[in-house]
Amino acid sequence: MSHKIALITGANRGLGKNAALKLAAKGVDILFTWRSHEEEAQAVVKEIEALGRRAVALRLDVGDTRQFDGFVSDVKKALSSTWQRDRFDYLVNNAGHGHYKPFSETTEEEFDALVNVHFKGPYFLTQKLLPLINDGGRILNLSSGLTRITYPGSGTYAAMKGAMEVLTRYQARELGERRIRVNILAPGAIETDFGGGRVRDNKEINDAIAAFTALGRVGQPDDIGDAISAILSDETGWITAQRIEASGGQAL
Ligand SMILES: NC(=O)c1ccc[n+]([C@@H]2O[C@H](COP(=O)([O-])OP(=O)(O)OC[C@H]3O[C@@H](n4cnc5c(N)ncnc54)[C@H](OP(=O)(O)O)[C@@H]3O)[C@@H](O)[C@H]2O)c1
Repeated sequence: MSHKIALITGANRGLGKNAALKLAAKGVDILFTWRSHEEEAQAVVKEIEALGRRAVALRLDVGDTRQFDGFVSDVKKALSSTWQRDRFDYLVNNAGHGHYKPFSETTEEEFDALVNVHFKGPYFLTQKLLPLINDGGRILNLSSGLTRITYPGSGTYAAMKGAMEVLTRYQARELGERRIRVNILAPGAIETDFGGGRVRDNKEINDAIAAFTALGRVGQPDDIGDAISAILSDETGWITAQRIEASGGQAL
């Protein structure tokens, strides 16, 4: 049996890394990107190999579309040299940064960085990778619980994720003819380095979010890695075009 291959953006740490390890433990090989922490990426490669799976880490800034043609060519080379294949199976658009400022104070530069990383980047990266995704494959985009609720300072970031939610439905419709399922996962607040680690390291924020979450705590990376692996699995193959929230019941 040939192993499936997942391409995950931003998997040198955080949710992407957790998903990579969860998928590898289930027999999936991993191609992933890092932007500024090569040493972390190489450590993740080793962890995946220790699970008996193959992994390749490639550098990419998702916010810079000028890098995409070169990246696609790097992906082709990696598929050929490591797997003797020309396609992969799952694309997870995960990489991204946080932003905490009200609409009234957000600068054009900050806005552009958010658009580039959270919307334009995944839009054109997916478009350019489409020929390399197997028919019957999956695309999973990452949104946020913040598209459903309002939280001070998160409007601009959440608006980008909202755009991805709409795009996801259209992608699912258009790629259905190739049997590619496209969904979007919306995590609630999770303890990672995201936003300077504020959910993990700021007790006041952590307690406040836990207090309005049905399951009584903020999320852990394992909560999301497991959800990503489940949404990509064959058992959920009839699910497409959906926004799936994994937030422990935040702000119901
Ligand atoms: N944590 C949460 O509470 C939460 C909640 C909802 C949604 N999300 C979403 O989940 C995704 C992952 O977040 P996380 O919690 O894992 O954050 P994280 O721990 O800060 O990790 C972010 C990852 O994205 C990469 N990255 C950031 N900007 C990039 C860029 N311009 N180009 C390429 N890679 C880039 C980082 O690479 P480097 O380390 O090399 O810079 C890192 O691998 C994001 O899309 C985020 O919006 C997170």
